[in-house]
Amino acid sequence: MYICLCNAIRERDIKQALMDGHGNTPHAVSAVYHACSDGEKPQCCSCLQTIKDIVSDHKSTKAAYASCKEMETA
Ligand code: FES
Repeated sequence: MYICLCNAIRERDIKQALMDGHGNTPHAVSAVYHACSDGEKPQCCSCLQTIKDIVSDHKSTKAAYASCKEMETA
């Protein structure tokens, strides 16, 4: 599914960028967008909230996974 129509960014592009570590920065949304758009800047910006939500979900899932791993080793 396309998330950004201005720069043809798909949901799977965003998830791949997150898997590649682009979400591990203080400016994760910007880093992910940059990685997915080959450096192109957002135009209308209507997709940014959706990208922000995907990044947030990814971070929550990652934190929950780390917490489970800690419980396994305790
Ligand atoms: S839809 Fe992403 S910048 Fe316009």
